[in-house]
Parts: sequence; C-alpha cells; structure tokens
Amino acid sequence: MAKRNVLVLNGPNLGMLGAREPEVYGHTTLADLERACREAGESLGLSVEVRQTDDEAELVGWLHQAATDSLPVVLNPAAFTHYSYALRDAVAMRTAPLIEVHLTNPAAREEFRRHSVVAEVASGTVAGFGLASYLLALQAIAHEPT
Ligand code: DQA
Repeated sequence: MAKRNVLVLNGPNLGMLGAREPEVYGHTTLADLERACREAGESLGLSVEVRQTDDEAELVGWLHQAATDSLPVVLNPAAFTHYSYALRDAVAMRTAPLIEVHLTNPAAREEFRRHSVVAEVASGTVAGFGLASYLLALQAIAHEPT
C-alpha cells in the first residue's frame, strides 16, 4: 500500500534548535528532529517531509499546498502560535488532520504564550514532550481513518 504523505512544518527560530536556549528547548537539533520524524514515519507507514521557515508567507503557502492536496500536517507554529491570524486562517482551510505541536508546554510559560490562535482550528494539540510531541502527533495521524 502507498505510504501516506505527511508534512511536518516548523515556524520561526526552530532552525536554531540545539543552539537556541538549550535550557528551554534542549540539545536536539532540527536535523535530529527530522531524522526522528522520518524514522517514526517509516514504522507507521507514513512518508514524512520536514520543513522549517522563519517566513510567515512561506508557512502560509505550505498550508495552502496541504489544503489543496489534502495532506495531514504536524505544525509547530513557534511564535506565530500566539499572534498570527494569517496562519490561523490558513489552518482553518485544512482538508485533512492538522496537529499543533510544541516542544515545551506554552501553558506553563510566560503569559503571552498561554494563548494559541491556531488551537481552535487544529484537530488537536500535543505540547510539552520535546521531540516526543512530534512523534505522538505522527501516531495520531497514522491512526486517523483515511
Ligand atoms: C514553541 C513555543 C512557542 O511559544 C515559542 O515561540 C517557540 C517554540 C515550542 O515548540 O515549545 O518558538 O512553539
């Protein structure tokens, strides 16, 4: 059976993982994250493509592509989570499951991180488990009926 394609999309500053505030985000790099997601995808029957951008327009464009092609998405919107209505509106167009993920638990951090403008249009959210947040989201997608 053909593998289901899944996009794992990462927003601003996540390209700096490993070097970025390691006391908050740990030592895992984006390359480590990509490898782990692709490997998890292999065992779940998913073909996983991982992307990262610091550019809101590019992220919105990828969400349009996912909506057009009915691709499931694992999305870490990073700081856009908290204020980007453009991103929220693009997520609202989704035609397949979209799971919001966070490495940290934003609800337990600074006040401005406690609200997600994306959450109410996502299928669900996994936060606070580091890299495992992504792997749990991929499991949820793999178990979602097609
Ligand atoms: C984050 C949490 C956001 O508040 C923050 O702006 C990030 C990373 C996370 O994965 O924990 O860039 O999305």
